[in-house]
Amino acid sequence: MSEYTCKILDGQVAIVTGAAQGLGEALARRLDKEGCKVVVADLNIEAAQKVADSLTDAIAVKVDVSNEEQVEAMVDAAVKKYGKLDLLVSNAAILISGAVVDFPADKWRKMMDVNLYGYFLCAKAAAKVMIPNRKGNIIQINSKSGKKGSYKNSAYAASKFGGIGLTQSLALELAEYNIRVNAICPGNLLDSPLWVNSLYEQYARNQGITPEEVRQKYLSQVPLGRGCTYADVANVMVFLASEQSSYMTGQAINVTGGQEMR
Ligand SMILES: NC(=O)c1ccc[n+]([C@@H]2O[C@H](COP(=O)([O-])OP(=O)(O)OC[C@H]3O[C@@H](n4cnc5c(N)ncnc54)[C@H](O)[C@@H]3O)[C@@H](O)[C@H]2O)c1
Repeated sequence: MSEYTCKILDGQVAIVTGAAQGLGEALARRLDKEGCKVVVADLNIEAAQKVADSLTDAIAVKVDVSNEEQVEAMVDAAVKKYGKLDLLVSNAAILISGAVVDFPADKWRKMMDVNLYGYFLCAKAAAKVMIPNRKGNIIQINSKSGKKGSYKNSAYAASKFGGIGLTQSLALELAEYNIRVNAICPGNLLDSPLWVNSLYEQYARNQGITPEEVRQKYLSQVPLGRGCTYADVANVMVFLASEQSSYMTGQAINVTGGQEMR
């Protein structure tokens, strides 16, 4: 097959938060392939730097998305280096699960801080530089758990439901500035580090089954019969970041193989 050469997002400047590993890294790599200059933003600066070094034109920025000063510095770094900001992909999030009665309150709040407040802070800082340009695109990586409650996973689902409310509200508010705001709700990325290093074990413990049974359970919920891949999510991100979706804002797009219907 011939090399894929059409760069749909050529010349755009993009920030991806949580881009040092997992889905965020994959999204940063896809934006690079599509011709973007990429700000690889993450708490883990060493890994973020490695990702940035492997891209065509990218910088790494250390950021805690729940810290307003650091988030503002991240957006400043993008504008200082590349002169503008076209796209924010708000991807950084954490997942701690557990029964409500055992859930440490500080951990529940921490998830709100990173997953919801962090999205607000990033969108706020991005909007400040996009509004004067009367152009911009904000994409939140949400989850199917942003639309349907998740068993013994109350903090994650609550933070992601909140993200959809924020997405719709920002879309209403920023439409007049030609800034579109959408969310992507992926299904289970069953081979991602989040699952392999943490979720199989967390869910097995919560549900009293083995990690392999957890995998089979989640696979059996998907009409298309497989887990979600990074490419599945990246394809929709590119569409939402491109002019091909210019009449779409305030949407939360399921990329789940049909899982939400089961
Ligand atoms: N893995 C899945 O199955 C799945 C499914 C649906 C949605 N999602 C969503 O996709 C996104 C990425 O998930 P992932 O599986 O790649 O996760 P991951 O844990 O592999 O990666 C998350 C990255 O975010 C960074 N990060 C964490 N807290 C941060 C903070 N406060 N500030 C800045 N960076 C921070 C981490 O260092 C890490 O590099 C999340 O929004 C997640 O909710 C994941």
